[in-house]
Amino acid sequence: MKYSFDQIIDRYNTNSIKWDGVDKYFQEKNLFPMWVADMDFATPPEVIEALRKRIDHGVFGYTLFPDSYYQAIIDWLLKRHNWKIRQEWILYSPGVVPAVNYAIQAFTHPGDKVIVQTPVYYPFFPAVKNNGRQLVCNELKYSNDKYIMDLDELKGQIDDRTKMIILCSPHNPVGRVWEKSELIQLVEICLRNEILIVSDEIHFDLIYPGYKHNITASLSDEISKNTITCIAPSKTFNIAGLKSSSVIIENEKLRSRYNHVLLQNGVMHSDPLSIEATIAAYDQCENWLDQLLIYLEENVEIVMNYFQEQNLNIIPVKPQGTYLIWLDFRGLSLSDQEIDQRLLNRGKIALDPGHIFGKGGEGFQRINIACPRELLVKGLHKIKIAVKDV
Ligand SMILES: Cc1ncc(COP(=O)(O)O)c(C=O)c1O
Repeated sequence: MKYSFDQIIDRYNTNSIKWDGVDKYFQEKNLFPMWVADMDFATPPEVIEALRKRIDHGVFGYTLFPDSYYQAIIDWLLKRHNWKIRQEWILYSPGVVPAVNYAIQAFTHPGDKVIVQTPVYYPFFPAVKNNGRQLVCNELKYSNDKYIMDLDELKGQIDDRTKMIILCSPHNPVGRVWEKSELIQLVEICLRNEILIVSDEIHFDLIYPGYKHNITASLSDEISKNTITCIAPSKTFNIAGLKSSSVIIENEKLRSRYNHVLLQNGVMHSDPLSIEATIAAYDQCENWLDQLLIYLEENVEIVMNYFQEQNLNIIPVKPQGTYLIWLDFRGLSLSDQEIDQRLLNRGKIALDPGHIFGKGGEGFQRINIACPRELLVKGLHKIKIAVKDV
């Protein structure tokens, strides 16, 4: 079946954070939203059909996780990521952000240090701090148009209070798909220093041609036993508003501790719609995803060409994965506040300001390109309007 990603769907008045929430969040009227990581495409029709069928039943009581739910996850990980897991390794979390919070609660103590690699998905910061742990920022290095991990700095940041790293793989916002060799070097440092790896792999299906995502835990048995893997169908199939993430833990001791924290927080069941959507997505929507990736790759090319042709002094960092592009505004020599104001007041466009992603994010903005082409081009013109007289 051929799917179309050009259709523009009006998302206003659906309580969409991205569309209905944008003006309130940025305190500015009539903004065009290219922030928040969900897509403006329809969810795959196979998922919608499964939801419709479930809705037609008409009763939405407490719901079990059927075997078909676990099997769908197991099959997907094997066929798309060559990772063979067992059903009992899979725990449920309503989202990956809660999953990261539970991991911090399960495996560290107040005052312990948790490493993140900035600039990075900003909810990691409150996850560490709100749980009374110390945040350690290991800044990525940006050289020759490429972000790499600064492992020398990392080694110097570790002491006997350092207990965990939250790895973002693929990396939001810089779009890196970490190579096997990079992951192995990182993991060796962690193993040597008894640092547990929480690997947030929520963007793992969104990989561009020429790159391969390596599931951290799949790299070796030893690594698997020291890793908590967080995944979800939410980004891949545009069902982020449903609640269906998985936390995969091979190590039985760690799993039982994690499970205890889930119970302490009363996390036991999902809901009937999220379960049906997850099964349909993983069982029936591989073809949809392959077509989506082609469309997204073309959107990436449009963005890359646009900034080259328009000479705006804004340089996009070409993503290897994710539908987010990290835009380098530093050539404009404006402060973060000036960039934000220009985008909001003149361009009337909402991007995610780079500085919220922590150290190393200053002078950057993140744009979400998962939208029909017509909207993408509209957004790019708005950025041009914001900066054209600098
Ligand atoms: C790296 C990363 N982790 C987690 C999330 C959100 O996870 P959830 O909505 O499942 O809590 C996002 C969403 O943008 C993300 O980019």
